[in-house]
Amino acid sequence: MSWEESTRQKMLHLKLPTDPRWVGITEMHLEDVLTDHAYCEQKAASSCISLIVRFNDLEELVDILTPIVAEEWGHFERVLEQIRKRGLKFGFIRKDEYVIQLTNFVLKGGSRIQQLTEQLLLNALIEARSCERFKLLSTNLEDPELKKFYYELMISEAGHYVTFIELARKYQDPDIVNKRWQEWLTFEAEVMNKLEVRGDRIH
Ligand SMILES: [Fe+2]
Ligand SMILES: [Fe+2]
Repeated sequence: MSWEESTRQKMLHLKLPTDPRWVGITEMHLEDVLTDHAYCEQKAASSCISLIVRFNDLEELVDILTPIVAEEWGHFERVLEQIRKRGLKFGFIRKDEYVIQLTNFVLKGGSRIQQLTEQLLLNALIEARSCERFKLLSTNLEDPELKKFYYELMISEAGHYVTFIELARKYQDPDIVNKRWQEWLTFEAEVMNKLEVRGDRIH
């Protein structure tokens, strides 16, 4: 089995594995990639808060997402701790081309449940890609503490990925969700394929 095939099987149905050069480049830009990662965690917490505010009447959704906000903020704190203990600088937020492009794929209009489905699938996809990348970091980084750190985060983000997909299938017809999920996966692979491989970004 080729590297690509074996990776694809293990990576949450993503259609394009991360370029194998990515981890090596990342190691040379630790300050930048940790800064970018910190903001990813902050954005993950914010997006759950937005869903809670927007869909306050969906009781189960609110109850499931509320502890995830705390978890993502906990991840932010842990990334910040890694930055501080290495004497690195927590830099400015940067334009997130990956998330911008994915957000443009969100279908506008439609019913409230259609809008919810789009947001949940967007979140699921970002979790899936983050999980794939954290796995690469946990396997390939030299630093033993960071390896362990990324292993733990990989498990957590994999759980979030499943939660978002399950929530989508709870509120929307699962066949509709599955069909749209395939479209999201195809689009994400196209975005990933066109993005420059750079070591100062999680995505
Ligand atoms: Fe996280
Ligand atoms: Fe997450």
